[in-house]
Amino acid sequence: MGEVHVTGAKNSSLKLMAVALLAPGKTTIHAVPNILDVSIMAELLRRLGCSVNYSADSETIEIDVPEIIEHRADYDLVRRMRASIAVLGPLVARTGAADVALPGGDAIGSRGLDMHIAGLERMGATVTNEHGYLFVHAPYGGLVGTQVYLDFPSVGATETLLMAAVTANGVTVIDNAAREPEVIDICKMLEAMGAKIDGIGSSLLTVTGVSSLRAVEHKTVADRIVAGTWAVAAAITGGDVTVRNASSEHLSIVLEKLVTSGAEVELTSDGFRVQMDRRPTAIDVVTLPYPGFPTDLQPQFIALNSVAEGSAMVTENLFEARFRFVQELSRLGAEVRTDGHHALIRGRSKLSGAPVEATDIRAGAGLVLAGLVADGETTVHAIEHIDRGYVDFEKQLNQLGANIIRETSPQIS
Ligand code: EPU
Repeated sequence: MGEVHVTGAKNSSLKLMAVALLAPGKTTIHAVPNILDVSIMAELLRRLGCSVNYSADSETIEIDVPEIIEHRADYDLVRRMRASIAVLGPLVARTGAADVALPGGDAIGSRGLDMHIAGLERMGATVTNEHGYLFVHAPYGGLVGTQVYLDFPSVGATETLLMAAVTANGVTVIDNAAREPEVIDICKMLEAMGAKIDGIGSSLLTVTGVSSLRAVEHKTVADRIVAGTWAVAAAITGGDVTVRNASSEHLSIVLEKLVTSGAEVELTSDGFRVQMDRRPTAIDVVTLPYPGFPTDLQPQFIALNSVAEGSAMVTENLFEARFRFVQELSRLGAEVRTDGHHALIRGRSKLSGAPVEATDIRAGAGLVLAGLVADGETTVHAIEHIDRGYVDFEKQLNQLGANIIRETSPQIS
């Protein structure tokens, strides 16, 4: 029981840092979470020639972008964080070229870049894939506005094309664009910088290129996935958690699911409160692009269903390998069967603690939540995944009444 304060969204902050590259001068971004991925992006920006200062206390990052920047994102950083690919659009826009290492597959699936590439090619760029790098060159005179139709409302492809289009020649129309709150946040920062974007928040974005942008100060949108994770934490433990600095609007479908599961959700002036006083009822979930149910809360909901009354079907439509964590959850006694995109969960009255391993950020969060309600001790390994997306996760859970100890893993020589 207690209160938590949600910081800015990881998946927005990282891209806002890349947006900064579009304008020489000093950009200030507020509400940036103090997580590993932000340090990796800061390192990447430094290598491109920027000076980056980060104050963890005030969650503020200052990025000084020089007139001339480099255009190469090396494999050692891109492989550590796939979101490094966010520099692709700004680099082509600013320098006319980008050499960006291919991120390769990761723990949650193959995650192609075909829509990023096809869109840039339609804008006149030439793209080659050699020696593990994408080499992108804008045509003489810069990228050219055009109509791009995305096969799927990809968050990353929408962002790459937006950042490429804001200073392109003429008008770019992105059809079937992603509508995630983080995409809207990026559009808002770009607008403040002087970009001209119509249709923000819709699936049809019309960008009229401008000759240059100016550096600005911007506050990151609140992290809806972290807020949603706290909401599930309250529901799974039969707790009472007030989540502050959160947008209930961005979590409409998630909070609705929790109410169906038996929770009481009360909206507050700056967030919401979730209370649960009984065993949750199993609830079906289908992940979809926003405003659908977020894939980034799917493992947490499987954890919730694993102790619920009844059975539920969870369908994953975005990342095929996100069910990998189910095998770990089964080590706690959860009864989950997967078949392709579907997971059938039969709720058990209790789970039993065991050692498990986090396979990605959200799987890690799901395992910790399951560990909270499992009998005895649960040890979650590979918590570096959790640290990539959650600030002081265990400290905040302990403040709410959990009993979690962070252990440093023994060094293997
Ligand atoms: N896809 C393609 N080709 C492309 C682009 C995407 O096939 O050119 C596919 C992907 O393989 C995937 C689907 O489209 O199956 C969705 O990918 P999308 O581009 O929308 O996702 P993303 O930009 O790679 C971001 C978040 C993810 C979040 C998804 C969906 C960041 C850094 N990552 O990824 O966050 O799950 O959108 O909302 O913004 C996380 O935070 O744990 C996380 C994985």
